[in-house]
Amino acid sequence: MSVVDDAELTLKERALGLLLELSEQLAKAKNKSERDVAWIQIQAPKSLTVLAQAWAEHEDSMRSRLDSIELMPGSSVRARSLRKALTRMAREHRSTEAADRILESLGTVASALTMLPPARVVSPNILASCNVPRGWVLGDDGIYKLRPDGEESIRVTHYPILLTGRTTDVLSGEARRQVLWNSPSGWCQKTIERQTLVEARKITGLGKHDAPISSNNAAMVVKFLMDFEAENAEQLPMVQSTEKLGWLPDGDFILPEKRVVPPGVGAYPFTLAPPAGMEHVSRACEVAGTWEGWLEAAEVAKDSPIAMGVLYASAAAPLLKVLKASNFIVDVNGGTTGGKTTSLRFAASVWGRSNDGRPSMLHSWDMTKVWCEQTASFLNNLPVILDDTKRAKSWRTVRDVVYDFAFGSGRGRGAKDGGTRNTLEWNSILISSGESAITSFSQDGGTRARVLGLRGQPMGTNPKVGSETAEKLTELCSENYGHLGRRVIDYLVANHDHHDDIVEQFKVSRDRFRNALDTPVSRRHASNLAVLEVAAEIIHALGVPRPRRSPFAFLVASAQEAGKDSDRPLAALQEVVSWAAANQTHFVGRGERLPMGGYRQPQYGWAGTWAADNWEYLGVNGRVLRRILKDEDFHPAEILDRWKERGWLLTGTQLTRPIRLPGGVQMRCYCITPAAVAAAMAERERDLKL
Ligand SMILES: Nc1ncnc2c1ncn2[C@@H]1O[C@H](COP(=O)(O)OP(=O)(O)OP(=O)(O)O)[C@@H](O)[C@H]1O
Ligand SMILES: [Mg+2]
Repeated sequence: MSVVDDAELTLKERALGLLLELSEQLAKAKNKSERDVAWIQIQAPKSLTVLAQAWAEHEDSMRSRLDSIELMPGSSVRARSLRKALTRMAREHRSTEAADRILESLGTVASALTMLPPARVVSPNILASCNVPRGWVLGDDGIYKLRPDGEESIRVTHYPILLTGRTTDVLSGEARRQVLWNSPSGWCQKTIERQTLVEARKITGLGKHDAPISSNNAAMVVKFLMDFEAENAEQLPMVQSTEKLGWLPDGDFILPEKRVVPPGVGAYPFTLAPPAGMEHVSRACEVAGTWEGWLEAAEVAKDSPIAMGVLYASAAAPLLKVLKASNFIVDVNGGTTGGKTTSLRFAASVWGRSNDGRPSMLHSWDMTKVWCEQTASFLNNLPVILDDTKRAKSWRTVRDVVYDFAFGSGRGRGAKDGGTRNTLEWNSILISSGESAITSFSQDGGTRARVLGLRGQPMGTNPKVGSETAEKLTELCSENYGHLGRRVIDYLVANHDHHDDIVEQFKVSRDRFRNALDTPVSRRHASNLAVLEVAAEIIHALGVPRPRRSPFAFLVASAQEAGKDSDRPLAALQEVVSWAAANQTHFVGRGERLPMGGYRQPQYGWAGTWAADNWEYLGVNGRVLRRILKDEDFHPAEILDRWKERGWLLTGTQLTRPIRLPGGVQMRCYCITPAAVAAAMAERERDLKL
């Protein structure tokens, strides 16, 4: 039997045996034709296969044996061409073997991993039906890329990472993928934009969530996940998702824990994918305690018109969309320790947690405008609740947030998705609190028509009763929350076909309020009051105890107030001019004359200058002016800008002018024109006649 077929021998022994036979025959050969016979034998396909396989695995020993053959007389050319042929065949052999291995590596994810993610994270069915893509190995210790040349495979990650689902955004149609990975802190699953998944630069961002990705392996991970997606296109479940809470175009409503669908309609897979930074807002909107426990809180609060006002506003937020009504702001303002924060907690408890700190539906004004836009956009049709304007970083933040909120859209961040501008939008109610009226931060008349200011002490003026009520309410709301909001949504979704009736009720109510209000600005609040009234009817029908006296008398009076001073710059001017008129002796030019000549210096110094006749301006000292404005809840900087715009100030390079006082001292004054003073007086006289 030839050495080629000897099954007792190893591959290497058989191959070396063949070469040995060849060299023996060549040594024995007496002429060229005998040498040719020896070479023809070794080139038999069977022999060549054995040689090539052995070459692939034991190249060194094979090569040295062939080298010695090459040195034999008349053999060098043939030995060299055999060496070439074997090298090529060995390479081919290696790659077929690798291809076989690559095919073998196809197995399911469930069979590849011994440590499987828990069923609450991902359904075992998905793991059992998804395959590890060709060319890759997946194991508990990470993913490996197989190399077709048979070289050792390359380790890509130290932990497994894979896709578990595909989602599309119901609103934007944007594609997202659910990515699952293991890490030292356990299994984690996130829904991310597909765009993030396909770009190495973006996917490294998952590193901060402990995903096994860094800038070193990102490109390979992207490749693996793309292969995974292609291999498992059929198996990966398709789920609808959204980035926002609130109404869907089909009349369903998204809450963090579920998609609320009309009764009788089967729920289908759905996932909420809060944008980065909004996860805690989503977590705050949850249910705890009991409905009965929360009703006790409502029982405690029901006779406070302010607490009920904010309760209606909180429950009314999702109604705006149904009623096609505009955004508005409910602002609780008044002195400290009156129960403002407590009443906002009560409003927050309609939807979820109302504690201080995160996560909570009650937020502090100590935030940025961008954060507020993002939160408003995420909450979408749920109320945004911001406590205590005093904590805002700047009065400008308050002014801008009020303005932007009222108009229902933010400017959006550009960078997302490489340049497409995502405008942030919402249709909702902002509930705010602060010591001074939120309208005092903006001198813009337009926002006044959108801010319903509820001024007073929400927990009443009796300190003992007030503090007890506040404490009881806080305690009950911290244990029982989230119930009323769910009931309102269930009601609205279930009555989708009756929304027209709700709209009719709203219109009737709005017309009634219009008739009850008389100034143009306050009449614009009729719609806001009607929204609150519709919400009140719904929640009382759902079982919330009715107050002994309707809070609407108070709410109407509050709307009436809003109309009073809608021209803030003018109202501020009136304050200053009336003060000057009542305190004329404080002005140089109108001071009290002393018997021996000269003027009596006023007790607190000169307030400015105001010539007795033919005066060119009323000059008011900056310190005095600011004090008058602040006392009346105006923002001096804003007011002065508006005055300047309206040409009410004589200005030079600065807003103030230097004025020489008796005795030669200089003082800087804001100089109001006679026309402005006359306008202020005329308005005041008209007001008084009214
Ligand atoms: N109307 C009230 N009369 C007396 N005490 C009250 C009243 N309202 C609240 N309190 C007491 O003040 C505490 C704080 O209440 P809360 O935080 O709601 O007041 P606030 O108006 O937000 O005050 P601040 O201006 O400090 O923010 C309550 O726990 C309660 O003890
Ligand atoms: Mg407070």
